[in-house]
Amino acid sequence: MLYFKNKDCKLYNQDNLEILKELPDNYIDLIYCDILYNTGRKFKDYDDNLGTPQEAILWYEPRLVEMKRVLKDSGSIYLHMDFRLVHYMKVKMDEIFGINNFVNEIIWCYRSAGFSKNKYSSKHDNILFYSKTKNFNFNMEEVRENEIAEETLKRFEKDIEKYGGHYFTYKNGKAYRHNPYSPPRDWWDIKALPQAHPERKGYDTQKPKKLIERIIKASSNSGDIVADFFMGSGTTGEVAVESGRKFIGCDISERACEITKNRILSLNGENFWKFPKGLNLKKQK
Ligand SMILES: C[S@@+](CC[C@H](N)C(=O)[O-])C[C@H]1O[C@@H](n2cnc3c(N)ncnc32)[C@H](O)[C@@H]1O
Repeated sequence: MLYFKNKDCKLYNQDNLEILKELPDNYIDLIYCDILYNTGRKFKDYDDNLGTPQEAILWYEPRLVEMKRVLKDSGSIYLHMDFRLVHYMKVKMDEIFGINNFVNEIIWCYRSAGFSKNKYSSKHDNILFYSKTKNFNFNMEEVRENEIAEETLKRFEKDIEKYGGHYFTYKNGKAYRHNPYSPPRDWWDIKALPQAHPERKGYDTQKPKKLIERIIKASSNSGDIVADFFMGSGTTGEVAVESGRKFIGCDISERACEITKNRILSLNGENFWKFPKGLNLKKQK
């Protein structure tokens, strides 16, 4: 059932398999889904229990097949989960998307309250990134890390300041232009949202905007269609619309749809690219 629609988004309150089947082939530029982790926990808005890992993968399989069908040839898919399913899911995704279309396993490292007493505390999530073909969009320059290696800074600081964040090297009379900021790594140190954080919408498994911003900036462009079929509180929707993308969202929980609708409405229909590209020449330790 279409729950809400405006010029920037369509939100569906329905089982995602049903809505996926209705979408056309080769339609979506970027899919990000923060899926059910199968923790066995009963959250306020949903039951995170799909049975054994094998049963969970059987439940996911038809959804993944549909996600591949609706993704454009130039598109990307990011599936966010944790240690409980990631190894089973990697095998299934290799089978459906093709092992050669595996791009990265991103490790989201965070600090949060609560520690294990008799083992290493789990403080990371796993995000599997696949493309549909080799011809996928990746905006490396948008997601360089805000960090310059100390050696580079020592040698080229004056150039970097003079040339607005670049430096040059010269060989055989030719000048070569370099960006000093480190290329993005596959592990991200981004703070999880504490309960009292202003971004919080009262949704148990809400993710930080900063995490989703990185994915949207890297793997989509202004005007592209971004979809999240496990939408929750609508973090993907808010970031997508805020950055000038179109958003398709789906969640089986009505409260998730209501929260997402309000987040999108609170943007006042304005599209603006919020991510500053300012320089930060601070030395990193
Ligand atoms: C991990 S949460 C997503 C949280 C979200 N990333 C956020 O920032 O708030 C997973 C969501 O999937 C939804 N969900 C579970 N089964 C679903 C299904 N069959 N179809 C659509 N949504 C489903 C749940 O209601 C829940 O909101």
